[in-house]
Amino acid sequence: MNLYGYLSVLFIGDVVGTAAVDFLGESMPAMISQYAPDVIIINGENAHEGKGLDETDQQKFFGMGAHVVTTGNHVWENWKSKPILKSDPKVIRPYNYPDGNIGNGFYIVKISDELQVAVVQLQGRTFMQAIDCPFRTGLELVKELQLTTKNIVIDFHAEASAEKMALGWHLDGKVSAILGTHTHIQTADAQILKRGTAFITDVGMTGPYNSVVGLRKDIAIKRAILQTAHKYELGVGDLKVSGCNVIINPNNGKALEINSFVFPEFRTKEESNHE
Ligand SMILES: [Fe+2]
Ligand SMILES: [Fe+2]
Repeated sequence: MNLYGYLSVLFIGDVVGTAAVDFLGESMPAMISQYAPDVIIINGENAHEGKGLDETDQQKFFGMGAHVVTTGNHVWENWKSKPILKSDPKVIRPYNYPDGNIGNGFYIVKISDELQVAVVQLQGRTFMQAIDCPFRTGLELVKELQLTTKNIVIDFHAEASAEKMALGWHLDGKVSAILGTHTHIQTADAQILKRGTAFITDVGMTGPYNSVVGLRKDIAIKRAILQTAHKYELGVGDLKVSGCNVIINPNNGKALEINSFVFPEFRTKEESNHE
């Protein structure tokens, strides 16, 4: 809580690979002093070599201050993630996967006896798995959670920008923030919607930018040209942290401010001539 009694939420976009997990850990103290977060949420769906997270990643994330770790479609591809989803309620997966799947789709962070923040994850369906409707199931869940707290932050893990924007408007005023993940590229549309929900289409990747959204460049190019499967290997180098900070008025759950960041910033000026 800052001087005015507002809540600060620090949200970190998809962490890709061990080097990125460690780089995030090194960067966290500076971000904590800058944003003084009451709640830290990290999307860890790609922490373990691009797929899910293992116990070491889990320990590192909570060791660096995370309150909740969200995941996404890739979490199911790593058998090491499944026992974590089963045993640790602070590691969540998209809520709208069909009933019968392990894990939980939300977690309520208790800051004090009076103050709670619900962290929810939903996943889109456009160009993705045909899971339950995020609009209908999301709205039902939000109505239930509102009985406990007005402070609700949603990680919307989705491919299509239009689907993300539509969910933003669908839940505008009903939740504090809808923060997009999954595409690994940060969008420049961080904003407060008309009824007070903070929104960004995608928070972006925490990982090696000397890559194609985390994948080694030559493999990504090969996949694109040959249109066949080629082994996933992580890119190396140019590590960056992508995230956003959301300030919420806990009296009504509305967002007051959203600021996105990529650290270190992208190079937009040539410092020396290429050879
Ligand atoms: Fe991802
Ligand atoms: Fe994903």
